[in-house]
Amino acid sequence: MNMTKQLENKVAVVTGAGSGIGAAIAAALHAAGAKVVVSDISGAQEETAKGLGDGAVAVHADVSQGADVQQLLDAAVSNFGTLDIICNNAGIDGELGPLGECSEENYDRIMGINARGVFLGMRYGIPKLIEHGGGSIINTASIAANVAFPTMPAYCASKGAIVSMTRTAAAEYGAAGVRINAICPGVTATALVDRLPQEMIAGATAVTPMQRVGTAEEMAGAVVYLASDAASFVTGAFLSIDGGYTTL
Ligand SMILES: NC(=O)c1ccc[n+]([C@@H]2O[C@H](COP(=O)([O-])OP(=O)(O)OC[C@H]3O[C@@H](n4cnc5c(N)ncnc54)[C@H](O)[C@@H]3O)[C@@H](O)[C@H]2O)c1
Repeated sequence: MNMTKQLENKVAVVTGAGSGIGAAIAAALHAAGAKVVVSDISGAQEETAKGLGDGAVAVHADVSQGADVQQLLDAAVSNFGTLDIICNNAGIDGELGPLGECSEENYDRIMGINARGVFLGMRYGIPKLIEHGGGSIINTASIAANVAFPTMPAYCASKGAIVSMTRTAAAEYGAAGVRINAICPGVTATALVDRLPQEMIAGATAVTPMQRVGTAEEMAGAVVYLASDAASFVTGAFLSIDGGYTTL
C-alpha cells in the first residue's frame, strides 16, 4: 500500500494563518505532508507554527505591503528550499453599514487587505512558483463575491475582485504550470463571524439548506484538494463551500 502523503515534499505559504480558516488550512496542509510557512500580522502565527511542530515556521507579514509579501515568499525558499503552494487567505470584514454610509477609509482598508493582499500574493508569488517549476495558488474569496450581504458593500466588492483576478490569472498562467483557484466559503465559525451581529448569522443559517454554519476545517479540506495532484486539471475554479446557501 502506498503510504505517501498527498502533499509530501511540497512547500506552502499561508496568510492569515494565526486564526480561523487560515490556521485550519496550515494544519491541514501540514497533516497532508507539506512544509508550511505560517504567516499573520497578529503575532498568533507563532502559536500556530509551534502547534504544528517540525516542518512549520512562523513569519510576520502584512499582506497589504509588497515588501512584506516578498520577504514572506522568500522565507519559504530559505527555510524549505522551494515553493509550491500559496494560500492567499488573510482578510477582514471591516466596519458594517450600507454603502451610502461606508467611509472612504473603511473602503480603502478592506480593499487594501482583502483585494490588494491577494493581488500582491499573486504578483510576487506567480514568478516565484514558475521559478520553482510551477505550483498551485488558492485564494480565499467568499460567497459574498456572488450574492449580496447588506451592510458589507466593500467586503463584497473585495471578494468580487478576488474572483475576477483569480479567473484572469488562471487564464494567463495555465500554460506556465501554475493552477490558480479560489474557495468561496459560506458563513464559517471563526473570530471574524463572532464579531458580526448574531441575527445576521442566524438569518443566513435559516436559509442554508444544511441549516448550520461551516467549520474552518471544512474549508481547509477543499484547499488540500485544490493544492494536490488530485486537482491537476483544475484551474480558474471557484469552489463554494456553503452548505448549499448559494443554490437558492
Ligand atoms: N468566516 C467566514 O464566515 C468567512 C466566509 C467567507 C470568507 N471568509 C474569508 O476567510 C478568510 C479568513 O477569515 P476567518 O474567518 O478565518 O477570519 P479570522 O479573523 O479568524 O482570521 C483572519 C486572519 O487574517 C489576519 N489578518 C488581518 N489583516 C491582515 C493583514 N493585513 N496581513 C496579514 N494578516 C492579516 C488576522 O490577524 C487573522 O488572523 C478571510 O479572507 C475572510 O474574508 C470568511
